[in-house]
Amino acid sequence: MIATDGGLVGEGHHSAFRQPHAEANALSEAGERARGATLVVTLEPCNHHGNTPPCTEAIVAAGVSKVIVGAGDPDERVRGRGIERLRQSGIEVVVIDPPMEWLDPAYFHHRRTGRPLVILKLAATLDGQTSAADGTSQWITAEEARTDAHRLRAEADAIVIGAGTLRADDPRLDVRIEGYTGHQPRPVVIAGRRPLPPSARALHRNGLVLGTGESPVDLDGALMEMSEEGLLSILVEGGPTLAASFLAADLVDQGVLYLAGKLAGGVGRPLFDRPWPSLESARQVTIDRVTTLGPDLRIDFTPI
Ligand SMILES: NC(=O)c1ccc[n+]([C@@H]2O[C@H](COP(=O)([O-])OP(=O)(O)OC[C@H]3O[C@@H](n4cnc5c(N)ncnc54)[C@H](OP(=O)(O)O)[C@@H]3O)[C@@H](O)[C@H]2O)c1
Repeated sequence: MIATDGGLVGEGHHSAFRQPHAEANALSEAGERARGATLVVTLEPCNHHGNTPPCTEAIVAAGVSKVIVGAGDPDERVRGRGIERLRQSGIEVVVIDPPMEWLDPAYFHHRRTGRPLVILKLAATLDGQTSAADGTSQWITAEEARTDAHRLRAEADAIVIGAGTLRADDPRLDVRIEGYTGHQPRPVVIAGRRPLPPSARALHRNGLVLGTGESPVDLDGALMEMSEEGLLSILVEGGPTLAASFLAADLVDQGVLYLAGKLAGGVGRPLFDRPWPSLESARQVTIDRVTTLGPDLRIDFTPI
C-alpha cells in the first residue's frame, strides 16, 4: 500500500510467480502521487534482477520518502540489501519487529530450507479408517469439515495426490466454497508404473504429473520440481500409500487430521498404508490445536 496524509494512493499484490511484484503494481497505480508518500510492504523489496527488475530502484525513482517493511527477506539475493539500498538513498525504513512472517509462511519456509512447505491433510473415522474396504471415502466428514478443508486448499499453491487416489476418486482438487472466486491450487499427481486415466478431471485443470514410469517416485525430487514451478505451499491429500511415503521421508512440515464423529466399526484402509513394526518406530508429533467442526474434529499437529 502507498499512502499520503490524504489517504491511500496505490495498492498492489504479487499475483503469481514471474509476475510483477506488489511494489511495482502499487507504484504504477499511485503514479506521481507516490512522491513523498509512505509505502507499506509485507516483504523487504528486492534489490536484484530476477524474473522482474529490482523494486528498490522503482521505489527510489518514484520519490517515496518512507518504507515500512513487514519482514526482512531471507532470500540470499536480498538478505538486507534491499533495505540498505533504500536507506542509502535517504529513504526512512522501518522494519516491523517481530517480523510478520505469518503473512506468507510458505515463502519464508522455502527460502530457509530450499523446499516447499508441506501440509499433510488426512480424514478418517474416529477409529482411524480412511476409506471403506470397497475403496469409498467420499465423504467421511460432514459439511463443516469439508468446507474447512476447502479453505486449506484455497491457501495452497498445489494439491498433491497419488495415482491411486486419482484412479479411485477422480477428484477435481479445486476450491469449492460458495461465492469463492479466488485463486485455485494446481493439481499435482505423483504417478507410478501404471497408466493414469487420460480423462481424469484433475489432469484437465493444468495438472502436473510427476514421475511417470518410476515407482516409488523420489518425493524430495518431486518437491524440487514443484518449487521450480513456483509451487511453495503444498497440501498433500493422500491416499494412504502416498501419505505414508511423505511421513517416512520426513517431508511433512505440518499436519491437519479431520476425525469424523463416526465409527467405521471394522477394518477398511488405515491413514498410512505401511507396516508399523514396533512402538518405538511411532512418530512423535506436537498437537498444536484441536477444533470442533460440527460433528467432527480438526487436529493440527507438527511432526517433531
Ligand atoms: N480419507 C482420505 O483422506 C483419503 C484421501 C485420499 C484418498 N483416499 C482413499 O485412498 C485410496 C487410494 O489410496 P492408495 O493408497 O491406493 O493410493 P495413493 O496413495 O493415492 O497413490 C499411491 C500410488 O502412487 C504412486 N506412487 C509413486 N510414487 C510413490 C511414492 N513415493 N509413494 C507412494 N506412492 C507412490 C504409485 O502408483 P503405481 O501403483 O501406478 O505405481 C502408488 O501405487 C482411495 O480409496 C481413496 O478414496 C482417502
